[in-house]
Amino acid sequence: MSQRVLTGITTTGTLHLGNYVGAIRPAIEASRTAGVESFFFMADFHALIKCDEPDRLAHSSRAIAATWLAAGLDPERVTFYRQSDVPEIPELTWLLTCVTAKGQMNRAHAYKAAVDAAVAAGEEPDANVTMGLFSYPVLMAADILMFNAHKVPVGKDQVQHIEMARDVAQRFNHLFGRGQALFTLPEAVTDAEMELLPGLDGRKMSKSYDNVIPLFEGGGAALKDAVARIVTDSKLPGEPKDPQGQALVTIYDAFATTEQRAAFRAALRGGLGWGEAKQQLVNLIEGQIGPMRERYAHLMAHPEQLEATLQAGAAKARAIAVPFLKQLREACGLRPYTSTATTATAKTEKTAMPVFKQYREADGKFYFKLLSAGGDLLLQSSGFEQGREAGQWVARLKREGLVADAPVQREASDAAIAAALAAFQED
Ligand code: TRP
Repeated sequence: MSQRVLTGITTTGTLHLGNYVGAIRPAIEASRTAGVESFFFMADFHALIKCDEPDRLAHSSRAIAATWLAAGLDPERVTFYRQSDVPEIPELTWLLTCVTAKGQMNRAHAYKAAVDAAVAAGEEPDANVTMGLFSYPVLMAADILMFNAHKVPVGKDQVQHIEMARDVAQRFNHLFGRGQALFTLPEAVTDAEMELLPGLDGRKMSKSYDNVIPLFEGGGAALKDAVARIVTDSKLPGEPKDPQGQALVTIYDAFATTEQRAAFRAALRGGLGWGEAKQQLVNLIEGQIGPMRERYAHLMAHPEQLEATLQAGAAKARAIAVPFLKQLREACGLRPYTSTATTATAKTEKTAMPVFKQYREADGKFYFKLLSAGGDLLLQSSGFEQGREAGQWVARLKREGLVADAPVQREASDAAIAAALAAFQED
C-alpha cells in the first residue's frame, strides 16, 4: 500500500533558506520516492487567522506556490493545491468540530501562549483570541484527515496538532465508523534536519529572530549581503580555524557533497580567510538556488500559469475530497431523505460492539483476543500462567487503549484497533 505524505505551509510572509533546506527540499525529494503519494498545499485558511492584510496574504500565497514549483516540485506527480480551493475542507472542519473536546483545545500550545501573553499584559485571558485561533487545530485535522495521510512532516512546534488530529479521528471513527476506521490515524514526522539550519547569528534560522537568509527575494545580491553578515570568530586570514560549531560551516554542509564538506573544513584549518570562505559559500548556494530563482521569477511574472497549475491541483484534490466527504456526511446522518436503507443498517449495527474473549489453551495457559464488532481478529495476546493476569490486561486495555508494553500481537491496522478500544472507553 502506498504511503500518503501531506504537509501545508501557512501563507504568511515569504520563505527563507531554512524553509527550503528543512521543509521544501526534503519534501520534494520524498515525493520522488516510489510508493509515496504526496499532498502539498498552501494553508491560506490558516493564514487568515494570523493575517489581516489581504494583499500580503495574496502575495504570500502566490510566492509560496511559485517557490515549490521553482524548487522542482512536479505537480503531475503530487497533489499540489490551495487549501481554500477545496471547500470540502471547511465542511469537514465542522464535522470534526462537533466531536472535538473543548477541554483538549484549551491545552493547545498556540492558544495557551496567546492567553499567557494577555495575562502577562494585564488583559482578559481571551483578549486576543479569535475563534479561528482557538479552532486552528481542528482545521489542521481536517487538512490531514480529508486525505487520510499516514505521515505529516512538520516542525516540532506542530507535533501536538498531529496528536490532536489523531484523537479527533479516533473519536469520529468510534462514533460514526460502525466498527470501520473512516479516518487513517496520522503520524507526525519530525526530521532532525528540519530544525537545524542555523541563521546568521547561529540560532535556528527564523523570521522571528531576524537572522534569515532569503531564498529568492532580493536576488543574488541579497544572498551575498546576508552571507556577509554571518557571525564568525575574529581569526585573520592565514590563521588556522576550527570549523566545529561555525554557523557558516553548517550552512555550507546543507548544500555540499561529502567531498566538498571535507575540503572546506581542511581549507579552514589551513587558514582560509572568512571573507574567502563566505565567497565560496555564496558560490555554492547560488549554483543551486540561482537557476531556481530564474524559474521563480518567471512564474511570478506569469500568474496565469501558476493559477492553471493550482486549478488542476484543486481538481485532483477534490476528486478525493468530494466522494469521501459524501461518505462522511452519510456516516454522521446528513443524508438524502431517500436513503432509508442506510439508516436501517446503521441502527442494527450500532449496537454491535467489539469484544474481548478470554480462554485457556491446551498448553494450560490463559489467553485473550480482541474481535471487532464484525468478528475480525484485532489483537491476540501471548499466554499467561494466571487467568487473573489476562483479565487485568483486558481491563487495562479497555481503560487506557493500546498501551505500548501490552503483551499482544497486532492483527489489524492501528486505526482499526484504536477504534475498537475507544468503544470501551465510551461505555
Ligand atoms: N500549521 C502548520 C504550520 O504553521 C501549517 C499547516 C496547516 C499544516 N495545515 C497543515 C502542516 C496540515 C501539516 C499538515 O506550520
